[in-house]
Amino acid sequence: MNVLVTGSSGLIGSEAVEHFDRQGHRVIGVDNLRFLNLGCGERFHPDWVNLDLHLAGPAVRRWDLRDELPFADGFFDVVYHSHVLEHFHRAEGLRLLKQCHRVLRSGGTIRVAVPDLERIARLYLEALEGSLTGDPAWRARYEWMLLEMYDQTVRETSGGEMLAYVRRDPLPEAGFVAARLGGELRRMTAPPASSPARRSFSALPSFVLRQIARLALGRGRLRAYDLGRFRLSGEVHRWMYDRYSLARSLEGVGFAGAEVVGAAESRIPGWAGFHLDTEPDGSVYKPDSLYMEAVKP
Ligand SMILES: C[S@@+](CC[C@H](N)C(=O)[O-])C[C@H]1O[C@@H](n2cnc3c(N)ncnc32)[C@H](O)[C@@H]1O
Repeated sequence: MNVLVTGSSGLIGSEAVEHFDRQGHRVIGVDNLRFLNLGCGERFHPDWVNLDLHLAGPAVRRWDLRDELPFADGFFDVVYHSHVLEHFHRAEGLRLLKQCHRVLRSGGTIRVAVPDLERIARLYLEALEGSLTGDPAWRARYEWMLLEMYDQTVRETSGGEMLAYVRRDPLPEAGFVAARLGGELRRMTAPPASSPARRSFSALPSFVLRQIARLALGRGRLRAYDLGRFRLSGEVHRWMYDRYSLARSLEGVGFAGAEVVGAAESRIPGWAGFHLDTEPDGSVYKPDSLYMEAVKP
């Protein structure tokens, strides 16, 4: 069995390496590897360098990915982003991929997960055919697939129509929606983690700014301010990819050997142990994903 030991050169880590080694396991230590997770959200591993606009924990560093990455050329062995690229306009996305290429060493791996446009389109067409027969189950699937295609691109408030849909009780075609969303469905329907007092404290600077904007702009323009803030918050989708266009985009900025891989399958040493695209029980975190890896020649 392969065993991944993070911090393998430290006191506890080196003991763990010896222990598993004595038991005949193949031990992989990751101390010397430099891994970068861009737009990590709440999905990060503490041994990686994790960047996001919003800080979900102390192991995350705030960075706007529209800016040049703050690392030297060839610094990382692995660059990864999951459900991030589609949040950028196509040209911005290409700029981000170029940055990924720059900070990767030669021979390093890029791994990208995005919602799979091809699968969405195929399921939409299937649901369209089914719903034309009048079958209520197909109609519910059709409604869901329309949300997957459009809601995250056009929404003007957080969660959009998708959130309202998954909060329906009972949830129409619940098994289908759960199979599309995976663990995301649990997250979307879970009560907020932090207390109302804590949430309102962290929202204080935005609240103060909005009050200033309200006084300065008046009602009509305040709506434009609110809309702009939301649309720039990193939540909306601005482009979509399939296995053809993602491979072309990666190769277009200099990567080679772009190939579709499974959620648990990777060239990255110890991948499954990081629990980024899979859960500890082995299930897939975001089953609607297209996973692709490529190397920097
Ligand atoms: C759909 S979430 C994906 C989060 C995580 N990677 C996952 O797979 O669950 C998209 C993430 O990209 C981040 N993001 C979007 N635009 C960004 C930007 N310009 N700079 C940094 N992070 C950004 C968002 O804050 C959010 O955490």
